[in-house]
Amino acid sequence: MSTAASSLSPGDSTLHEAAIPVLVVGAGLMGLGIAQVAAQAGHEVLLLDSREGAAALGLARLGTTLQALAAKGRLSQAAAAATLARLHPIAGLAEAAGVGLVVEAIVEDLAAKRELLRQLEAVVGDDCLLASNTSSISITALAAGLKRPGRVVGMHFFNPVPLMALVEVVSGLQTDPAAAAAVQALAQAWGKQAVHAKSTPGFIVNRIARPYYAEALALLLEQAAAPKVIDACLRGAGFRLGPCELMDLIGHDTNLAVTTSVWEANYHDPRYRPSPLQREMVDGGLLGRKSGRGFYRYPAGAPALPAPHFDAPAHALELTVHGSCAVAEWLEQQTARVLQPLGRRPARLYAGGWTGLEVARARLVLSDGRSAQDLAQALGLADIAVFDRPLALPCAPATPIAYAVAPGAHPAWRAQAPAWLAALGLAPLPVADSPGLIVARTVAMLVNEAADAVLQGVCSSAGADAAVKLGLNWPAGPFEWLARWGTAELRAVIAALDAHYRGERYRISPWLQRQTLQPRPAPA
Ligand code: NAI
Repeated sequence: MSTAASSLSPGDSTLHEAAIPVLVVGAGLMGLGIAQVAAQAGHEVLLLDSREGAAALGLARLGTTLQALAAKGRLSQAAAAATLARLHPIAGLAEAAGVGLVVEAIVEDLAAKRELLRQLEAVVGDDCLLASNTSSISITALAAGLKRPGRVVGMHFFNPVPLMALVEVVSGLQTDPAAAAAVQALAQAWGKQAVHAKSTPGFIVNRIARPYYAEALALLLEQAAAPKVIDACLRGAGFRLGPCELMDLIGHDTNLAVTTSVWEANYHDPRYRPSPLQREMVDGGLLGRKSGRGFYRYPAGAPALPAPHFDAPAHALELTVHGSCAVAEWLEQQTARVLQPLGRRPARLYAGGWTGLEVARARLVLSDGRSAQDLAQALGLADIAVFDRPLALPCAPATPIAYAVAPGAHPAWRAQAPAWLAALGLAPLPVADSPGLIVARTVAMLVNEAADAVLQGVCSSAGADAAVKLGLNWPAGPFEWLARWGTAELRAVIAALDAHYRGERYRISPWLQRQTLQPRPAPA
């Protein structure tokens, strides 16, 4: 192998054009995928694993996969053959002296990775970049003690590597910006979308996703709703999987380990604290799909929700839609549809300071974070119900939506509030009267976490949006939700959670505090 190809400087962002030889260390799940995408992009790829025969065996399996892809027409026979011809198992580091990039995907252990990097320094050329696929270890810590720490960069792929478009390119304190730029350009050349991150616990995706699980676990712990209700509501908001079924898929042991490592790395910040419920499930062997039981039993999975029947709401003499946001617009359209056969239209009030329906003196209020009980007390009204935030507007028919009625409400309003939600086309699901119900609370905390990541320079807001859409398949990014929802409204939800639970967990990100509040456009 020519050493000339590796004489590029780490700052050369045209690294990919020279198709430099690449060494992948670790022929496991991730290493094989990384070797495949590098070889498909035209690089000669050396593969090394400490387990004897593992690299050759892995490449044989990869060969079968590539042939199967070719048979299905996803890849030409020639491309499959050329890719395979570029992949070479090697028996020791000495054979890798000429590579221009190393990607390590060995066991997730700081000491093992450090030792590997130390050995690599003695073998590869000075300009060779050293990338790590670590999902949780600090890049700063990996580079410490090396002769050239500036060339160590995180190159965090997602599983399965050939299919997942995101790569987080992670800089430690000593990473040379030019080295990070070169790795970023290389990832793009491999057909990935690279997002830059500063080395902090969880990087971007694993950090911003924490509240998706944490809020569900908090709701479960206080018995506010069943797993199938939480999952239905977040699926209804556009997430592909609800948090409970997703934790079952990931495995509660893995999810607890990641949560614990982020919590410990943040000096036990209560915001990241694992739930006793997770611990209990892991201790009991209820690991999720892989053990046959987690929140659900498998293979059955989440049971279907019963479809309760609601009578049409009673004929209302006075119906007013309150609010000026997009949800209020949608409520007006829907109530107009309901009232049309009666030859009537809803009244509309823009400036009352709340969003929802007023039916005679009773109120069906879009959650502003406060519980129905708190709202009833603040307003001095008994007939209050709150409903969760419909995230994707217009709502698809029968979108599940959580609601709660104030404890002092008249039984008639207890029945009428969900009847109105059903008449609007939603599928109302009763939950305990908890602040921010399910979707509003979860999404507010996701945005808050992303805001803190931007505050700390971990990533840009555009980077955060791209990372969660590509890495987690979320329907939108946190800053896109923020733009739609409004900073004041989102902050109100977190403030209500903070007032209700007290403590450090629901503190508003200073980034959100500093946003200038945009006045809502005056209604026409
Ligand atoms: P794996 O267990 O499937 O593969 C690791 C391979 O590395 C094994 O074949 C092992 O024999 C080999 N190995 C261990 N120590 C070695 C050494 N000193 N020298 C050479 N080979 C060595 O693990 P997996 O899942 O592929 O993970 C690898 C890395 O990728 C870890 O850092 C992990 O945190 C990270 N990662 C894993 C993801 C996943 O979904 N599994 C996602 C993103 C990153």
